[in-house]
Amino acid sequence: MKELVKKALEAQKFSYSPYSNFQVGAALLTKTGKIYTGCNIENAAYTPTNCAERTAFFKAISEGEKDFEAIAIVGNPKDSKENEREYCAPCGVCRQVMAEFCKLKGFKVILGKSEDDYKVYTLEEILPLAFTKDVL
Ligand code: THU
Repeated sequence: MKELVKKALEAQKFSYSPYSNFQVGAALLTKTGKIYTGCNIENAAYTPTNCAERTAFFKAISEGEKDFEAIAIVGNPKDSKENEREYCAPCGVCRQVMAEFCKLKGFKVILGKSEDDYKVYTLEEILPLAFTKDVL
């Protein structure tokens, strides 16, 4: 888990966020042990912005990955001091994307402030009463 948070911190450095100045990094672990990273990518037109979590998911899915174990997420304002960091929870859209591809009870969402300070949730905990393909 510490390793996955480290990868998310590395990905955060690539954040393209000139409008919000809020930098997010994510690292997605597959069941076979591969890691796909992502950062948030903003746009002058605002709505095309892609969150770090979805960047990581879409990279992985587009390369044929189907089974996921966990995602680590870090996010904070640019130039914030290390002792001012908060846990960055994924937005509702990203939670819904996770629910499409991951088990609610098994998939772990790791929110990190640093390599040594993180919290672990299941997807079910952060997305109760999920709308999934099972009901269609
Ligand atoms: N953002 C993410 O990348 N992931 C989250 O979980 C929350 C929000 C991004 C979107 C936007 O670029 C910036 O953070 C501020 O909302």
